[in-house]
Amino acid sequence: MQGPIVFETRRLPFAFLALLELLLLVSLCTADRFIPNPADYVLPLIGTTNGGHVFPGATLPHGMVKVGMDTNSPGNQAGYDADPQYDAIGFSQLHDSGTGGSASLSNFKIWPFSSCSSFSECPTSPASRAVPRNLLPDGSPDDAASPGYFASNLSSNVRVELTATRRTALHRYTFPSNSTEPRLLVDLTDDGQQSGIEPTMLIDPTTGRVTGDAWFLASFGPGEYHLFTCVDFHGEGYSLGSPTEYGSWFFDTVTQNATNTNAFDGSAGALLTFQPSTNGTTSILVRVGVSFISSSQACANAQEEIPDWDFERVHSDALAQWNELLGRVQIDPTGVDEETIQLFYSSDTYCASGLLWGESELAVHRALDTFRTLYPLFSLHDPERFALITRAMIDIWRFEGWLPECRGATLQQWVQGGSNGDPILGEFFVKYHEQATALNVSVSDLYNALVTDSQDEPGDWDLQGRQANDWVRLGYIPDELNSDFSGTNTRQVSRTLEYAFGDFAISQVAKLIGNTADAAKFQQRANGSFEMWNPNITLPGFPSVIGMMQLKSSTGAFDMFTDPRHCSVNDPTHSTCFLDSNNHDGFYESSPMVYSQVWILYFAFFAYAHSSSPIVCPHDTAQLITLQGGVASFIDRLNIIFNQSYFDVTDEPSQQIPFMYHYANRPGLSTKQSRQVISESYNTSVSGLPGNDDSGAMGSYAVFLLAGLYPVPATNQYLLSSPFFPSISFSNPLFNTTTTIKATNWAGNPADSVGTVYVSNVTVNGVQYKSNCYLEWDVFQTSSVVELTLSDDVTLGCGSGANALPPSLSSGGFD
Ligand SMILES: *[C@@H]1O[C@H](CO)[C@@H](O)[C@H](O)[C@H]1NC(C)=O
Ligand SMILES: *[C@@H]1O[C@H](CO)[C@@H](O)[C@H](O)[C@H]1NC(C)=O
Ligand SMILES: *[C@@H]1O[C@H](CO)[C@@H](O)[C@H](O)[C@H]1NC(C)=O
Ligand SMILES: *[C@@H]1O[C@H](CO)[C@@H](O)[C@H](O)[C@H]1NC(C)=O
Ligand SMILES: *[C@@H]1O[C@H](CO)[C@@H](O)[C@H](O)[C@H]1NC(C)=O
Ligand SMILES: *[C@@H]1O[C@H](CO)[C@@H](O)[C@H](O)[C@H]1NC(C)=O
Ligand SMILES: *[C@@H]1O[C@H](CO)[C@@H](O)[C@H](O)[C@H]1NC(C)=O
Ligand SMILES: *[C@@H]1O[C@H](CO)[C@@H](O)[C@H](O)[C@H]1NC(C)=O
Ligand SMILES: *[C@@H]1O[C@H](CO)[C@@H](O)[C@H](O)[C@H]1NC(C)=O
Ligand SMILES: *[C@@H]1O[C@H](CO)[C@@H](O)[C@H](O)[C@H]1NC(C)=O
Ligand SMILES: *[C@@H]1O[C@H](CO)[C@@H](O)[C@H](O)[C@H]1NC(C)=O
Repeated sequence: MQGPIVFETRRLPFAFLALLELLLLVSLCTADRFIPNPADYVLPLIGTTNGGHVFPGATLPHGMVKVGMDTNSPGNQAGYDADPQYDAIGFSQLHDSGTGGSASLSNFKIWPFSSCSSFSECPTSPASRAVPRNLLPDGSPDDAASPGYFASNLSSNVRVELTATRRTALHRYTFPSNSTEPRLLVDLTDDGQQSGIEPTMLIDPTTGRVTGDAWFLASFGPGEYHLFTCVDFHGEGYSLGSPTEYGSWFFDTVTQNATNTNAFDGSAGALLTFQPSTNGTTSILVRVGVSFISSSQACANAQEEIPDWDFERVHSDALAQWNELLGRVQIDPTGVDEETIQLFYSSDTYCASGLLWGESELAVHRALDTFRTLYPLFSLHDPERFALITRAMIDIWRFEGWLPECRGATLQQWVQGGSNGDPILGEFFVKYHEQATALNVSVSDLYNALVTDSQDEPGDWDLQGRQANDWVRLGYIPDELNSDFSGTNTRQVSRTLEYAFGDFAISQVAKLIGNTADAAKFQQRANGSFEMWNPNITLPGFPSVIGMMQLKSSTGAFDMFTDPRHCSVNDPTHSTCFLDSNNHDGFYESSPMVYSQVWILYFAFFAYAHSSSPIVCPHDTAQLITLQGGVASFIDRLNIIFNQSYFDVTDEPSQQIPFMYHYANRPGLSTKQSRQVISESYNTSVSGLPGNDDSGAMGSYAVFLLAGLYPVPATNQYLLSSPFFPSISFSNPLFNTTTTIKATNWAGNPADSVGTVYVSNVTVNGVQYKSNCYLEWDVFQTSSVVELTLSDDVTLGCGSGANALPPSLSSGGFD
């Protein structure tokens, strides 16, 4: 058993933070605010059933504590399920949001009993204590959620309310008036997958304080983490006194007067009885500190953050933090239906709920799914947190030797794609290289971390880094099973494409620090994805769709055919393509149709890199699209991806595809398809997310689609469609800037995306812009007014100037 590595919390210098705060206040006072309290529009219950796995409980933006209800449903990865057929079993303190893997991080559940027949007869195990929630007239559970707050009425007549600070949860249990012996249970071992072992516990019979710890399994990887807690009780409006009864429990056996537990594993914890209030309403507050370091640290965290036991104060502070963060993006709601506004601000909320950023800065992190849209969203409105996460990633490289790929509860978890920390650091650096030093991000360490990550092979590239030796030697990942790792040498095509994109991002950083030799080397490596393109493979039934990514052996032969329909809804063999040793087809979580198309976009990035480099020939539109048979067949192929259901909204590799019509000078088709994604696959119901949110990946995608933008990570470009609002503005607290995108002729959001939604003209600060289909980062670096003129003509192109097409497709000239 190995202890988790816990990183010290590192903060920006106080004076610098104070300056940021000042800047923020100033910008908040000066910006137009159409929506003064955006948190009012947030519906945290969106995506809490139907596989969204969204966490709906109480948390701060990036808070470590995410306190929420746990239900006994199979899909309770984030603890909660909105489906009323499942019962409540506890209220726990951490939680993942939007992930697959095993349910985990539902640690240290608290549970109220309004009326056990006696202390020793309380049904303590999770299975025995489960009770239904009360139902509302429409049949849904009587649960309520808003940013920083969660409440539920249990059928045991106990009302539960939850709120949080960064590392401490505050629970309020209001017992029914006839509850003469209100009791509260602390569960030390059930983390959602019943994995806790070696619990230790101490009950203080005088104060009722329960301290304890246990070891728990990760959700999606090997290893165990050690988590500590400190639970205190307080009567609201009356003095609680010492518990009238206390003891330990093991499954359903209660041992009265025991102050510790002898359990090695299995279900175990503490049970306490308190006197009720004498005046009718018995509300008991439970303050739960949590720490990856020690129980005394958990107590200190709790004492520091909630010394006053003031539930309303903690709740209103949390709400204020959410309003401040969400309010950095303002929309004009005129003529917009409320559901669209709710979807927008709720999606932005998932983004800050998904990553767990607290005592250990980067306890939960998913590079695979988040590099496309989540971090580019942070670039637009949350640069200080992006800097802190960047520093935490570099710290992990310092401690472990490689950048983190997928983390859970501070542990390394399985790598699914490439080494996607690379495009995240690339994104940070492209946007904030001038501010990096002021943000305490070491430029040399950032670059060294990228270089090691890309070319030094770790002992186990299933947990971090890359299969770098083959990548550097061959320029792609060959299909032979590698004897180094049993059955895990899968995903060779998708990993090649992601390594290539990672190296593209590194070349961007190299260019910015003036290392032209490395910039050229990494551009050359990024070109490795060419190797996997087999020009002779066609889509069965569609002979015009020619050329496909395929597995290749180390000798250069395409010796393992993968059906392009593999891993799509059209796959005749219904094969899966997850992380298992049966997946020998080379692709992860998406079909060759998707990866081959996305590759064209990646290829576009590389072309852009080449076009700005003096050492290689510039590529142009014709050359790119020629690979797929010319512009018309490129567009046909995209149409087939949509009309034959190869576009898979439930997984991130498809996210770029709606915007690829831009590269064929048909941005109106991108606008149409991206608007269809919102109208067909997102809504504000509890089932309104089309798949796991993946720590904010789906939420940030929705934010961009609704804003009418799609970011190209680690570059300066944002592809442009049209906003779902007459105007939208992004305030950047670091730059003290607000950039507003206004849509002239805006006439609503037609359900079929046919209407006045296509961009016919773009001006920036009153001057005609170089393109009608993308914006560049400098527009957001200074306060700008971008005016889009909308038209109902879907055939409009990107404009006529030399730089009208997204620069990667222009024939040079971009810099
Ligand atoms: C700056 O970052 C370094 C490396 O992470 C850290 O050791 C140092 O404490 C940080 N300084 C401040 C003032 O935050
Ligand atoms: C309290 O009242 C509820 C109904 O209001 C009843 O179901 C419950 O059994 C009562 N509990 C006790 C301990 O009397
Ligand atoms: C629970 O019951 C209380 C009344 O006791 C009510 O005010 C509240 O709206 C109900 N629902 C939730 C989720 O708190
Ligand atoms: C009765 O309890 C409520 C809620 O706990 C509290 O606010 C109030 O002050 C108490 N009243 C008396 C007379 O103790
Ligand atoms: C627990 O301790 C209390 C107080 O000393 C005593 O009255 C009670 O009988 C004990 N209960 C058990 C089950 O030992
Ligand atoms: C990229 O690879 C392709 C195919 O191997 C080759 O034709 C092309 O010249 C390469 N481009 C660069 C810039 O290396
Ligand atoms: C594709 O087919 C052509 C014509 O038959 C052949 O010359 C070429 O080698 C094939 N390419 C691959 C990669 O199989
Ligand atoms: C799908 O798109 C292709 C290519 O544009 C087109 O030929 C075909 O008619 C479309 N099919 C449907 C069902 O729309
Ligand atoms: C909401 O979206 C989900 C996920 O795409 C979908 O399954 C569900 O049918 C939609 N519900 C409504 C009412 O549109
Ligand atoms: C921030 O921007 C506002 C509006 O442009 C300006 O009035 C203010 O002086 C700026 N604050 C700082 C600290 O630069
Ligand atoms: C776009 O807007 C600019 C600035 O208002 C104007 O000069 C230009 O004529 C417009 N172009 C089109 C095609 O409407």
